[in-house]
Amino acid sequence: MADNRQFDVLIIGSGAAGLSLALRLPDTLHIAILAKSRLEESSTLYAQGGISAVTDPSDTFESHIQDTLNAGAGLNHPDAVRFTIENAPEAIQWLVDLGVPFTRHGNSNAPEAFHLTREGGHSTRRVLHAADATGRAMETSLVSETRKRSNIKIFEGHIAIDLITASKLGQTPNRCLGAYALGIEAGHVDTFSASNVVLATGGASKVYLYTSNPDTSSGDGIAMAWRAGCRVANLEFNQFHPTCLYHPQAKSFLVTEAVRGEGGVLLLPDRTPFMERFDPRGNLAPRDIVARAIDHEMKRLGAEYVLLDISHKPAPFIREHFPNVYARCRELGYDMTLEPIPVVPAAHYTCGGVMTDLSGATDLPGLYAIGEVACTGLHGANRMASNSLLECLVFARAAAQKIVATRDQSPPPALLPAWDESRVRDSDEEVVVSHNWDELRRCMWNYVGIVRTNKRLQRAWRRVDLLQQEIQEYYSNFTVSSDLIELRNLAEVAALIIRSAQLRKESRGLHYTLDYPVADTTHPPSDTVLDPGKWKAQVPRRAS
Ligand code: FAD
Ligand code: SIN
Repeated sequence: MADNRQFDVLIIGSGAAGLSLALRLPDTLHIAILAKSRLEESSTLYAQGGISAVTDPSDTFESHIQDTLNAGAGLNHPDAVRFTIENAPEAIQWLVDLGVPFTRHGNSNAPEAFHLTREGGHSTRRVLHAADATGRAMETSLVSETRKRSNIKIFEGHIAIDLITASKLGQTPNRCLGAYALGIEAGHVDTFSASNVVLATGGASKVYLYTSNPDTSSGDGIAMAWRAGCRVANLEFNQFHPTCLYHPQAKSFLVTEAVRGEGGVLLLPDRTPFMERFDPRGNLAPRDIVARAIDHEMKRLGAEYVLLDISHKPAPFIREHFPNVYARCRELGYDMTLEPIPVVPAAHYTCGGVMTDLSGATDLPGLYAIGEVACTGLHGANRMASNSLLECLVFARAAAQKIVATRDQSPPPALLPAWDESRVRDSDEEVVVSHNWDELRRCMWNYVGIVRTNKRLQRAWRRVDLLQQEIQEYYSNFTVSSDLIELRNLAEVAALIIRSAQLRKESRGLHYTLDYPVADTTHPPSDTVLDPGKWKAQVPRRAS
């Protein structure tokens, strides 16, 4: 039996962004959180290196801002950068008060007692961390606090399908009214109505065959917002993390950049260092440069991986700083205290997303987007390491403040029509979903990866266009399943990524194309904005 539920705030997603928002809202509000898997399961849970913030007395906001702008290759919005970085110390204090066990020197509670590590693009040690499992420490603290709150109702195993808007119901003025979500175990679609809806659904890295991300990162929020009429921006900037472990049983296991921050060196298979040939910052150059250098060397040598070596450091130091990476490598037969480990780049982070202002508000009244799903302008053309968890926290607080401040203007939750299943039947060919899923992700990996060309993008466009048509037909005729919902969203986001990449006629940050190998200096840098209202004018001719 499908339910119709009403809340003040509906939060879709339970990573750092979604849970922080829920906890920042007053407990007088009736809040629902949807998580398509277990509450903990999210990219946040797997974050390793840490969270950046100016806490050391010798560091400055100006330095953090400048490093972020340098990494972002001229495309960051300076107001978003300053806003995030100046609010970072408050966010850290909030996490400390929540009990997040950041690694410290000794037992001191003074702010200067945090052990700070370094990562690519940071000109100084500025990254707070909980050993090499910062995300787990944060997520478990957030989950435990959320479960204590009686005003927050948690719906695990509920995957949002689409947003409900006034305009879809033929009403004016337009506003987000709620969402339909499939209860995966029960197999029926529930209706959630809310005065405010928040997308905190994470990124879309699962659109690529090889990714550091968990299965939750299927771009659902971006696709839902797009279908609801919101603009999206900068989706061509897909970040590839330079160092995922190369192992047949652990394709997506990340080896934190902090390994290089603490002295790790990238080597060719013959053990020659190579990063200095690509950038004076060597192994700690921003991530786009390091991933591209690795890709270049692997292709030049026909190598399947490069090596990451920190074995010159004392073994107790390695085991203390990287206990989880060390343990996982040992399980897979590598001892990083004794030998270099094989690594490859993999899709890691979606820099673009749903366009928002500094309070997380989207184009659609009543709809917010926070965390990796959003494009706030902070990251520009390349996110600097450890600025993502920070963005989740700062924008969660900003959105909470805006929701509270505009409460009087938010209408009460509306009575919404139930999900209409009258014209669909059960699927007789589940294999279509798994086949299309694989084809889509392989196509994106091969043609829309670290190095692009016009020809590859056009090839990808034709295939994704065809896949979208097939998926749409399937979606219209058969009962929804979580795989089908994700596949439809992945295909939608893939098309948006390709189109954004086609529109950028230059190389900048994470978008590198052999057809325009340098940055365009004849015009001021600008965002790639896609508008669903103008989509027809923005798409190239459809494949016949
Ligand atoms: P997520 O944490 O991904 O959470 C998304 C949530 O949305 C999940 O609860 C999911 O179930 C839910 N969801 C998605 N779609 C739906 C739907 N349709 N219906 C219902 N629920 C849905 N960043 C840093 O700053 N520092 C780091 O050290 C760092 N290390 C990383 C290491 C790894 C291996 C990975 C993968 C990422 C790392 N990042 C790091 C990036 C960072 O972890 C993420 O950008 C950040 O955690 C995103 O948080 P989020 O709350 O926006 O989304
Ligand atoms: C890492 O630990 O290398 C990931 C950091 C990040 O993505 O910010």
